[in-house]
Amino acid sequence: MTEIKATNITWHEGHAGRAEREAIVKQKGVLIWFTGLSASGKSTIAFTLEHALVERGHLAYALDGDNIRHGLNKNLGFSAEDRTENIRRIAEVGKLFVDAGIVTCTAFISPYLADRQAARDVIGAEDFVEVYVNPSLAVCEERDPKGLYKKARAGEIKGFTGIDDPYEPPTDPQIEIDTGTVSPREATSLIIGLLEERGAIPPLNK
Ligand code: ADX
Repeated sequence: MTEIKATNITWHEGHAGRAEREAIVKQKGVLIWFTGLSASGKSTIAFTLEHALVERGHLAYALDGDNIRHGLNKNLGFSAEDRTENIRRIAEVGKLFVDAGIVTCTAFISPYLADRQAARDVIGAEDFVEVYVNPSLAVCEERDPKGLYKKARAGEIKGFTGIDDPYEPPTDPQIEIDTGTVSPREATSLIIGLLEERGAIPPLNK
């Protein structure tokens, strides 16, 4: 846990609660945390899921690593320290989104177990669904949509996850998806089924 640096600050409790907000949107706030290698398909599934939920009339929002690094986290690189800070900030943002009643999908490599555990602790285990997007490294490398694996293999990028920087797989993810064999649509249906089961969203036609 990062210590609070500021002194002379006081927590101010709001008057409208999470449950009241959730009643407005007729859903429960929840965080779907996608983790996996670059090009594993995290963002594709997160955005497909976001779209499917919004089409069904739900409030959903996808937070994506590459996108967030263009704004909120533009001052962070890929050192272990920066990756930890990247994930810490996303966990805090995710916590606010969940409190707002939003089905939140985060797509970050989030390579370190301890950082994902810290994210789970910040958000609360009951609101945190870990999805391990797990095609083989060979599949990710074959896809290489941004040409980054090629650069990493050539030594033009140092510290690339899966090549010369570690990826620590989840030990007990709620869902594991091998996008080598499962399509984004199938993955989305699977997760929507889980959200219905958890009561985060009502089943269709109810
Ligand atoms: S994380 O490790 O801090 O969770 P994040 O998901 O935000 O990573 O960003 C990963 C994306 O940044 C990759 O999909 C890739 O496009 C790009 N990237 C650039 N350099 C690296 C690197 N050294 N390791 C991994 N991804 C990188």
